[in-house]
Amino acid sequence: MPPAADGSLGVRRDFPIFTREFAGRPLVYLDSGATSQKPQAVIDAQASHLLEHNANVHRGVYELAQQADAAFEGARRRVAAFTGAIPETTIFTKNATEAINLVAYAWGRSNVGPGDAVLVTQMEHHANLVPWQLLCRERGAELRYLEVDGRGELSLEALDGELARGDVRMVAFAHVSNVLGTINPVAEIARRAREAGAVTLVDGAQAVPQMPVEVHALGADFYVWTGHKALGPTGVGVLHGSRELLERMPPFLTGGDMISSVDFQEATWNELPWKFEAGTPPIAEAVGLGAAVEYLDGLGMERVREHERELTGLLLDGLAQVPGVRVVGPPEADSRGGLVSFTVEGIHPHDVAELVSREGVCIRAGHHCAQPLMRCLGVTATARASVGVYNEPADVEALLAALHGAREVFALEGSAAAAQVG
Ligand SMILES: Cc1ncc(COP(=O)(O)O)c(C=O)c1O
Repeated sequence: MPPAADGSLGVRRDFPIFTREFAGRPLVYLDSGATSQKPQAVIDAQASHLLEHNANVHRGVYELAQQADAAFEGARRRVAAFTGAIPETTIFTKNATEAINLVAYAWGRSNVGPGDAVLVTQMEHHANLVPWQLLCRERGAELRYLEVDGRGELSLEALDGELARGDVRMVAFAHVSNVLGTINPVAEIARRAREAGAVTLVDGAQAVPQMPVEVHALGADFYVWTGHKALGPTGVGVLHGSRELLERMPPFLTGGDMISSVDFQEATWNELPWKFEAGTPPIAEAVGLGAAVEYLDGLGMERVREHERELTGLLLDGLAQVPGVRVVGPPEADSRGGLVSFTVEGIHPHDVAELVSREGVCIRAGHHCAQPLMRCLGVTATARASVGVYNEPADVEALLAALHGAREVFALEGSAAAAQVG
């Protein structure tokens, strides 16, 4: 389908929240990196599950319970197919954070010990840092960081240098940085790590919503993402793992549903994927996520990527015209996901976000759960605009106009051109 004349994907009417107005104009939502808005199809799928098919799963013999089973396992099949994975190794978690914790506990506690190292990068979200900090502290292992260079990218030579030390057991890194926007070369990093005998975990929270992702083709051992950023509900995330590793790993959380049998002193574990799904899972949320990936599939992920790349290009070009703006991350849209973080000289990022919100424009400000990266960038916070399938060039224009207005509020001189730095 060709793009609409206004540069949109023509889907905004599918998202009921855009009937709302803020500051007297339709919602300008540029915070999809934090969470996406939901299409009616997702809201309906979740509601109709609760209205018509609600029962607990994997327990009931009656027809309603079997309908709930079919809806939940059907959603798993749909989600697995969306990312080129298989249902048996597609585990539903609460979010990406829980999926990473699962791996850090279940794989980490039995595979990392004194003298070993876990390698993360300076651009990680806290979700992909803190679980590894705890693991390394507890197991007497070393946590090392791959540096981010001046363009906001990782160096494969530096990776090789780390791997050559021979002690790296795990390389954990983002597919797309939630601050820099950088798209990391996942397949290449996974290949090099594998050759060095290291396991890889990829944090795909910012990638799956906006570009085609085929987890098997990427070759990482673990790939995690989160439903609410991918048009799905909150409360459901996904872990894709290598069958071999998942089978060898002990469980993470324990209790009902994840067991095969329980005696007074011992228990044996259920098959994959249920071995890692203790307790009642997020059933209606998984059904909603199934509808979300079906919706994204209908749009076509190549098209979604192209749309977000174009909007990112407009953001980068427009921000370069705002005096005093410093953009972090790679300078060109081709190397980035659909988000741009920036600072405005003389205005705190929180003030930037607050001032543009007076014009009805929603952007995020803060450390974006990446405090170590903020230190590397020499800032305490940035403002961040991030796009989704429902955004259009007019949203970018609204932000840029609001930013020019914000500078006037602070009565800043229109001097220095925007600098692109990492
Ligand atoms: C790169 C990245 N990783 C992980 C997360 C955590 O996602 P969740 O809070 O859904 O677990 C986020 C959310 O902002 C993120 O941007």
